[in-house]
Amino acid sequence: MQKHLVMISPHKAMLDIVDRHNIKCTIIDKINNIRLYKSITNHNLILCDYECIETCYSLLNGLHNVHPISTIVTLTEKAIPIASEISERLHLSYTSLDTVDVIYNKVKMRSILESYKDFSLPYIELMNKNQLRAFIRKFSYPVIVKPKDGVGSVGVQKICNDTDFSEFKFTDGLIAEQFIEGAEYSVECFSFSGDHKVIAITEKTIVGEKNFTELGHIIPANISKKTNQDINNYIVRFLDIIGIKNGASHTEIKIFKNNIHIIETHNRIGGDRISSLVKLSTGIDLVELSILWPLDLCKKIEISNLFYQYSSIRFLNPKKGFVESINGVESLLYSPNIISVECLINKGDNVKPISDSFSRYGFIISVGKSFNEVKLTSIDAINSILINYKN
Ligand SMILES: Nc1ncnc2c1ncn2[C@@H]1O[C@H](COP(=O)(O)OP(=O)(O)OP(=O)(O)O)[C@@H](O)[C@H]1O
Ligand SMILES: [Mg+2]
Repeated sequence: MQKHLVMISPHKAMLDIVDRHNIKCTIIDKINNIRLYKSITNHNLILCDYECIETCYSLLNGLHNVHPISTIVTLTEKAIPIASEISERLHLSYTSLDTVDVIYNKVKMRSILESYKDFSLPYIELMNKNQLRAFIRKFSYPVIVKPKDGVGSVGVQKICNDTDFSEFKFTDGLIAEQFIEGAEYSVECFSFSGDHKVIAITEKTIVGEKNFTELGHIIPANISKKTNQDINNYIVRFLDIIGIKNGASHTEIKIFKNNIHIIETHNRIGGDRISSLVKLSTGIDLVELSILWPLDLCKKIEISNLFYQYSSIRFLNPKKGFVESINGVESLLYSPNIISVECLINKGDNVKPISDSFSRYGFIISVGKSFNEVKLTSIDAINSILINYKN
């Protein structure tokens, strides 16, 4: 029988893949995304608010009775818990709701990791400001406070001293954690029936000071073979602990004094165009794998850490002010080693400093033969965009 794929809120690359592989597909999405499907003629399209679980479930259950669904795939943050719950109710294979719950709740994740010595980190779910005071007394400054279900670095605060503490305003839904120093990486994995393959290790650059928004990523990270192997072993154990068995995952870590610490994880491909970097650097298409693997239309990848070339994404980080003119973007498109450019700054804009992932102004993706080469290419490219501000 022909496989029947359901995709919730797919992006363009996913649509291209199902067409390329001639896969029968039902798309489910919100009505405001209808423009994405203008040229689609050969798939079912259901428009509804998929975040309303009962609506989504009854529609898919009805469909399942007529055209049995083989699997549900989504790479959209908000749709993953929905896909998990509906898969469970329709008895389809998917990352379990228990695991998704742990991934989406930073308190639950810390609590699971508490029983594993090299994975545990002091933390507390904050119920009031006094608890933060007691936590700081016990573990001392600095600490990080962030929403327990946050995304995009929104609301992440580093509390370094008494002044920061007194300025800190308590709100509901926060977790405090001991602050981990050191460099930050993300580990891009794909799990094949419990066999976890590290596809790439990404080195991250953040804006800095107390702003944790990502300013850039480079694949592969500039680390020794031993560190690479240590990260591999650590992440394989971690994915087993939290119960991811199939599909893409993206785990953020920091390394301090040779100790690896988990920051957080997602059971999806990393954002920030990391899948494009993975493809440029390894040839592996994580989006394609995410569709073909659950449909049993591909074999598992045997080798970890394949490597062709270095790749980088660097985000624009303009200073604040009214833009009088902006030049240099066009010519970048024809520069060697520049793969793509997106610039969201226009003449007349009132530019404000980046505060989180959602307030960034575009990026440059580039490739190179070494870590330093690709890093320099991306920094030079960003610097070649000339913005004049009104006085
Ligand atoms: N315990 C910690 N120690 C040190 N840095 C931390 C800690 N927790 C978070 N951070 C920093 O804050 C950033 C954002 O935290 P986290 O990833 O948990 O939040 P998020 O909102 O889910 O972020 P995003 O969606 O951008 O990945 C991390 O990438 C890291 O730089
Ligand atoms: Mg994060």
